[in-house]
Amino acid sequence: MKSQKMIAVYPGFFDPFTVGHLNIVKRAASIFEEVVVLVASDSPKKAMFDFSDRIAMIREVLQSEKYIRVESFEGLLIDYMKKNGYQVIVRGLRTVSDYEYEFQMAQANRTMDEDVETLFLVTAPQYSHLSSTLIKEIARLGGDISKMVPLPVYNKMKKIKNP
Ligand code: COA
Repeated sequence: MKSQKMIAVYPGFFDPFTVGHLNIVKRAASIFEEVVVLVASDSPKKAMFDFSDRIAMIREVLQSEKYIRVESFEGLLIDYMKKNGYQVIVRGLRTVSDYEYEFQMAQANRTMDEDVETLFLVTAPQYSHLSSTLIKEIARLGGDISKMVPLPVYNKMKKIKNP
């Protein structure tokens, strides 16, 4: 089954949303007609930001982007994709170690619904070292994260004393 409009879904916990994530979203938006940044509810890791904060921050970062919208979900990604008629998942690949995890997720999603494709964009080299965990640690220890996260995220993180 072909979708009428080429919409890519970029899912993640985004705790927090980084400049690396932003780079992937914008590149996806240059390929697809629309991109949905899809914020997942419960992270298995201890989250710094709750669900509604993560959604609000990403909305603020992307507010001027006409073809990018932010949605959120709970439960299985594949169920949300199916329910909304979405067929393409975009994920960023930073390192070889990402590959194993991404490969498993893509295969599991494909087993659950073979109409949903996962496409990978290779992370821009300047962002390949970034991770949300690393950024939270640098912020906690008083380091400068201004080049690692978009401004609305930076401002919010500055307000939190002990991420
Ligand atoms: N640049 C910089 N960092 C990046 C990046 C990029 N391009 N792409 C990923 N990252 C980093 C993030 O900063 C984050 O770092 P961390 O591990 O230190 O926290 C990590 O890679 C991954 O984070 P993110 O992309 O936000 O979310 P995720 O990979 O954990 O998302 C879901 C996984 C939400 C897509 C997946 O768990 C899911 O679908 N869950 C719903 C339940 C479900 O369907 N489960 C079955 C899946 S088969």
